[in-house]
Amino acid sequence: MIELAYSLVTNGTKLYFLNSKQYGKLVLKLYHEGSINEARIHMKAFKLCPGGVVKILGANSYNGEPGILLQRCRYTTEDYDFKGKSKKLEDLIKSTLNTMKILHDSDIVHRDLKPSNIFYHDGKFKIGDFGEAASINEEYELQINRGTKSYMSRAYIMHYEGGLWNGRIDAKKEDVWALGKTFLELLCGVRFPDLNRRDDNFVRKFVEEQLNKLDFCSNIKEAILGMLEPNQDKRLSMEDALNLINRNNSCGKGDNDNTL
Ligand SMILES: Nc1ncnc2c1ncn2[C@@H]1O[C@H](COP(=O)(O)OP(=O)(O)O)[C@@H](O)[C@H]1O
Ligand SMILES: [Mg+2]
Repeated sequence: MIELAYSLVTNGTKLYFLNSKQYGKLVLKLYHEGSINEARIHMKAFKLCPGGVVKILGANSYNGEPGILLQRCRYTTEDYDFKGKSKKLEDLIKSTLNTMKILHDSDIVHRDLKPSNIFYHDGKFKIGDFGEAASINEEYELQINRGTKSYMSRAYIMHYEGGLWNGRIDAKKEDVWALGKTFLELLCGVRFPDLNRRDDNFVRKFVEEQLNKLDFCSNIKEAILGMLEPNQDKRLSMEDALNLINRNNSCGKGDNDNTL
């Protein structure tokens, strides 16, 4: 017996939040046109990193509409209140970097990383919403415009809006920017929607100033600064950021927080 708890319609996607005696709380996500790719990539990602990706239970046609069935997570990081919980933030940063490193190592790019697409369930942070994701080594157009504007780098937004920049976009480095921006916003408890409208030196200075105000593990602050480097060639990779954080094992010690 499956009951409908509530439903949600976002940009053409329909989501049904279901309660099942047998399977617990589920989400049925019906695709909008052209996003059939989502099921395939999400399944691949879940197989590669079951602990770090929202659990996908199946992909099927439901009343003639293709969709995926997902485990329902308790929160998105957008709704989760991180105030005073720096250990949780540290966990979020390390675990999502680790998941994204695994996906990038297999040439999967997410292309829509942001707080509302990172979930929290049963004590673990999980990447979800593979609606914009792609496999780089497949015949898939990586230059087409994807993602959420306020989480794009300046170079990408200029490309996206048909502006001056017309070089190549490194999709993995775009994921790094979006995740770095997500981390900065969650750490500061504020959104910075116009960061990609500012020139490179402004961005470097602004990010550094924001980080300097925070009482947080210095390796993590350094990693976020490197993830938000405007020049994509100098920007850290997911692996670089993870290695930097784990350097000397210094994170997690000396933080005056025990609010788990
Ligand atoms: N598995 C899930 N568990 C809990 N909430 C979910 C889940 N999937 C989606 N949602 C909720 O629905 C919103 C939209 O789902 P998402 O997969 O991100 O679709 P869209 O492509 O429309 O952004 C999410 O931000 C979240 O609030
Ligand atoms: Mg989403």
